[in-house]
Amino acid sequence: MRLHVNIDHVATVRQARRTDEPDPVRAAVLAELGGADGITVHLREDRRHIQDRDVRLLMATVRTGVNFEMAATQAMVDIALEIRPMTITLVPERREEITTEGGLAVPGPDDNLQETMRQLSAAGLRTALFVGSDPETIRSSAEMGADAIELHTGEYAHEWRPGRGAPVALDRLRRAAALGRSLGLDVHAGHGLTYENVRPVAALDDIEELNIGHSIVSRAVFTGMESAVREMKALMLGARRPVPE
Ligand code: PXP
Repeated sequence: MRLHVNIDHVATVRQARRTDEPDPVRAAVLAELGGADGITVHLREDRRHIQDRDVRLLMATVRTGVNFEMAATQAMVDIALEIRPMTITLVPERREEITTEGGLAVPGPDDNLQETMRQLSAAGLRTALFVGSDPETIRSSAEMGADAIELHTGEYAHEWRPGRGAPVALDRLRRAAALGRSLGLDVHAGHGLTYENVRPVAALDDIEELNIGHSIVSRAVFTGMESAVREMKALMLGARRPVPE
């Protein structure tokens, strides 16, 4: 079972000030030191968090592998063909959404998805489709030649409550993962997973990779807060001390 850490929200904090900190590339290095098996980023069309510069630096820095999430557009295909990440996960993208709200329609309403898959596969790149647990979509993903599916765990995360029995969505995820595996697909999962709700999904044998972002970045804010304040205070107090002759 691999953990891919999504560092988009380190870039969200940086973009709030349009400055150069915190740098997601540094976050990626630390995530790898912490045991991440891969680094995931979503280069959105509106560049609301990850920037082109981040992707290029990550490709040069990350030692594990970059999972590049993107919409099925020609502009994104051109970037993917140039940088050649370890995996390309195709996701639906709508400008007005806060985050990726649902899985892809496979095959899509137009042929962008098919053409994108054709170009990426022809270039020998590994592709994953971010999909819901519906069996037809999973079969279509295999027919389209995807190497992997990433199951959208948002519905599970939404249903999950502490102390309650396994949500219905967990059973759907279990069956979807088994179907994907039986069709020869690698099965990943992600979205909305937290320290509280991850265990039942991590226990599903047919899932071999989880992509987790928001909860890890949120936790990192708190685990780092004390020492960050201590460091700033030491700097301030040090500035008032008389300099020894
Ligand atoms: N997987 C995909 C395809 C995503 O789009 C996202 C969100 O960017 C994630 C996983 C990670 O979701 P979260 O930030 O809720 O952990």
